[in-house]
Amino acid sequence: MAKATVSLSGRDILDLESLSVEEIELILQTAAEMKKIMKMDIKKAPYLRGKSIINLFYEPSTRTRTSFELAGKYLGADVVNVTTASSSVVKGECLRDTILTVQSMACDAIVMRHPIEGAAVYAADIATPVVINAGDGAHAHPSQGLLDMFTIRENGKDLKGMKMAIIGDILYSRVARTNIAAWTKMGADVHVAGPMTLMPHDIETLGVTVHKRVEDAIEGADVVDVLRIQLERQQKGLFPSPREYARIFGINENRLKLAKEDVIVLHSGPMNRGLEISWEVGYCDNAAIRIQVQNGVAVRMALLFLTLIGGKYIENID
Ligand code: CP
Repeated sequence: MAKATVSLSGRDILDLESLSVEEIELILQTAAEMKKIMKMDIKKAPYLRGKSIINLFYEPSTRTRTSFELAGKYLGADVVNVTTASSSVVKGECLRDTILTVQSMACDAIVMRHPIEGAAVYAADIATPVVINAGDGAHAHPSQGLLDMFTIRENGKDLKGMKMAIIGDILYSRVARTNIAAWTKMGADVHVAGPMTLMPHDIETLGVTVHKRVEDAIEGADVVDVLRIQLERQQKGLFPSPREYARIFGINENRLKLAKEDVIVLHSGPMNRGLEISWEVGYCDNAAIRIQVQNGVAVRMALLFLTLIGGKYIENID
């Protein structure tokens, strides 16, 4: 790995808009090194020994929380999970006090998921440890955006000039917002489609092409990113019925044939199978969904490694 000219030491990771192309490249290159550690018989490279990480999750999560936990543990850190349902949050403790409380325990990083947009920025303003946004409402999910980019590049596709289709619930999706920011920054040609009731009114200002028909977005696409319908966030009545949604917007085998033969299908999970994605597409050879999960650990290892110790010792990994 070439010597880095940028550093993320001590940086909060709140969204991808605030990372430069060079910083994104550094994270992706470091993640490739981290993936080597994941493939070792003894998955331990204790570069973060003596560091402690608190996963503070105000919303459910399987992939993000588990992979941040494993990422920290593979690198030798102490990792503690705080699930708000079994914490003093249920007694009414406010976010500020919860942040100050976990900070008082001398933690080095807080990985936080919260249902409200801007919660991670608020936490970063208060906290002295590094704050990594693990998803804040419909705003941002930077580690997901990074693992999606890593997965696309690992599959041999450079982002520059590629046609990317993002399909579904754009309005409530932090993944859509994050990937639009990242992919346009990396020079990709981003197309979106979904129900107009689930499309932000100012979406074109983000530099994407909007389609009413899913087929037009998918035609010739290198990547199809299928968004989860965010049933927990949206008001009722934004599309007629799940059956209608699947018929008009769902990604099935017939629609996927419109994309390039080597199209990469992404879904950040959990999938609503039979709704936004068919069973067949979820399991097809072009689906990178389980690879995304694996890459999520490598990317989160890279984020912890770069923010907590500035990527020191990277030359020793091999
Ligand atoms: N992709 C993602 O954020 O999944 P989880 O909600 O399971 O963490």
